[in-house]
Amino acid sequence: MDLTAIGVGAIVGAGIFILTGHAAATYAGPAIVLSFLLAFVACGFAGLCYAELASMIPISGSAYVYAYAALGEIIAWIIGWDLILEYFLGASTVAIGWSGYVVSFLGDIGIRIPKYLCGPPFTYDPAVHKWVVTGDALNVPALFIVIAMSVVLVMGIRFSSWVNSTIVVIKVLILVIFITVGAFFMNPAFLTPFIPPNTGEFGSFGLSGILRGAGVGFFAYIGFDTVSTAASEAKNPQRDLPIGILGSLIICTVLYVGVSLVLTSVVHYTDLRVPAPIAVAVDVMKLHFLSPFVKIGAIAGLSSVILVLLMGQSRIFYSMSRDSLIPKIFSKVHKRFKTPHIATIITGLFGCVASSLLPIQIAGELVSIGTLLAFLIVCAGVLILRYTQPQIRRKFKAPGGIAVPIGGILFCLYLMSGLPLDTWMRLIVWLIIGLVIYFTYSIKRTWRANWQ
Ligand code: ALA
Repeated sequence: MDLTAIGVGAIVGAGIFILTGHAAATYAGPAIVLSFLLAFVACGFAGLCYAELASMIPISGSAYVYAYAALGEIIAWIIGWDLILEYFLGASTVAIGWSGYVVSFLGDIGIRIPKYLCGPPFTYDPAVHKWVVTGDALNVPALFIVIAMSVVLVMGIRFSSWVNSTIVVIKVLILVIFITVGAFFMNPAFLTPFIPPNTGEFGSFGLSGILRGAGVGFFAYIGFDTVSTAASEAKNPQRDLPIGILGSLIICTVLYVGVSLVLTSVVHYTDLRVPAPIAVAVDVMKLHFLSPFVKIGAIAGLSSVILVLLMGQSRIFYSMSRDSLIPKIFSKVHKRFKTPHIATIITGLFGCVASSLLPIQIAGELVSIGTLLAFLIVCAGVLILRYTQPQIRRKFKAPGGIAVPIGGILFCLYLMSGLPLDTWMRLIVWLIIGLVIYFTYSIKRTWRANWQ
């Protein structure tokens, strides 16, 4: 149960509270439900591979740590660099979503924050493939939450996990209430056609729309890999890890399918391109008293995701620094709090810049593609190790022979293929920058650390 709660705490956030509306309105319509199921399959495969890797290598950590131990330095660097997209950019994306809900909630109680302080100065228009000026200055609430969560993390992990457990209960309760009450307001007419016909453009409704929706819906599942980081603390990893990983994924899938079904049958999908879709649905049902609770639930829920993702990022920086791939300062530990405070503060500072300046859609899609690539490497790593290191004891082995890692690789590729070309280009540029840093800086440091 503890492992499952860690998973749910890290998973349920901006994906379901915010991006579902946009993905239904732009890509999949009511079939966003199928997008979530598709994304669940990919995450299930990847989750089992994560668990196997985590149980083979008896140190807590992320895919970076496993890759370093199992596949060598350069693959570890690539995955570490790529994971910045998952953890750091993921935290920033969720912070942008957090800002949307906070601004809307404060508006309800009569506190108006000027619009130019709640959005990024530029946004990307995919129709014309150009960045356009929005007229806003920067996203101040997003900046605030990144700072607040970084302070919590610097102060220590014990406080953080207490905050996390309380929030998990609140956000799950809100979604369950939304599904249960919403079930009485469903309008089946909104669900036909369930798969709106393709508009002639790839990813705009039809089957390709479901696929593109799954690429975005995948964002909603990110975070379950945090369960595997507790592998070395599990009493019986062979049994507990798959329960924790699959258990949290299944709980979230049930919630996501329920929420998206209620959402698209209460509000027509064409009206869901809004920053707080669940709150909008509650208003349409005329349950105005529920609206503030939904917003508070979302605000609390998103806070815990930001917390977990920022923590993951500072731990990855810590490990990369211990391996001499990045400066030593990242692995400094605070004397009193015993936390990697410098790594946390630097992550927080960059998080402030990203969350206050980036549009949510661009950031979210980049997080999805980066994480899919990380999962793909993890699945490939498991496959390679089955052949190169068959003798190593695996406290947990993914069932079904090589079907799971191969299924994981194929599903991740499939979901990646649905994401926009612009997102692919950004990923490639990011990886090239990473390789330039590795070959001009990190490789020299690790060589000196290992051989001198
Ligand atoms: N799965 C997390 C969210 O949806 C990242 O916010």
